[in-house]
Amino acid sequence: MCPAIAVNAPVGVMDSGVGGLTVLKHLTRQLAHEHFIYYADSAYAPYGNQSAVKIQQRCFAIADILIAQGAKALVVACNTATAAAISPLREHYSLSIIGMEPAVKPAAAASKNSIIGVLATTGTLKSAQFAALLEHYGHGVQVVTQACVGLVECIEQGQLDQAHTLALLETYCQPLIDAGADTIVLGCTHYPFVRAHIQKIVGPQVTLIDTGAAVAKRLQQILEEQNLLNPATSADAGNAQHATSSVKPIFLTSGSQETQRVMQQLWQIL
Ligand code: DGL
Repeated sequence: MCPAIAVNAPVGVMDSGVGGLTVLKHLTRQLAHEHFIYYADSAYAPYGNQSAVKIQQRCFAIADILIAQGAKALVVACNTATAAAISPLREHYSLSIIGMEPAVKPAAAASKNSIIGVLATTGTLKSAQFAALLEHYGHGVQVVTQACVGLVECIEQGQLDQAHTLALLETYCQPLIDAGADTIVLGCTHYPFVRAHIQKIVGPQVTLIDTGAAVAKRLQQILEEQNLLNPATSADAGNAQHATSSVKPIFLTSGSQETQRVMQQLWQIL
């Protein structure tokens, strides 16, 4: 419990770029009274091909920015950053830090033919955390992994429907189709932006799973446990419509004006 922290303090959310917006949308729906500050580290994206040390340096720099803004908790809305940096972050800071990992466990439970695919970054798939995840939850299922090199760059530029993006998706989905996966994990927070394209390529019979909703529930649970949940204001209490509307997040980025534009555009379509 952190009695010194105000319940109406914001929650800081970070990602290598715009991908974490797909998680932030779940957070704002689940926790309509919370204030969120989102940091897109687009000047340094993608993280997926960078060393763990470099990613840790960026995560510390961003955590410092969000904490300076008064954050009462942090969400690392990035599978790659979680794998590289969640342990050192938790050792260094006293506030709660929620991370995320590819949804191997729910995918293994959902799969009917016990063949699951995982689309993620190279960094995530090569990490010790991912190896541990397979060790815990991958028994009895065939797990086909596919690194999606270049895909994050397309999404960072807001190129969701371009021919180049679709060609990459075809290439990366094919090995999973060939293996017969009936459940596919979107193991990078950028990928839900191209979810509809992936679904079209793999077919409607394949289940796609991401972890945004689970992260939102976990954040709620942690804020409740620490008595840090922002209650409805008295103005909201008598107004059901107001009480369910979320406060607009603040968007920060290390990227350019163009990143700000893409962030606003992508936020609208979620
Ligand atoms: N969105 C990030 C993830 O969930 C990483 C993308 C990247 O920067 O490579 O892994």
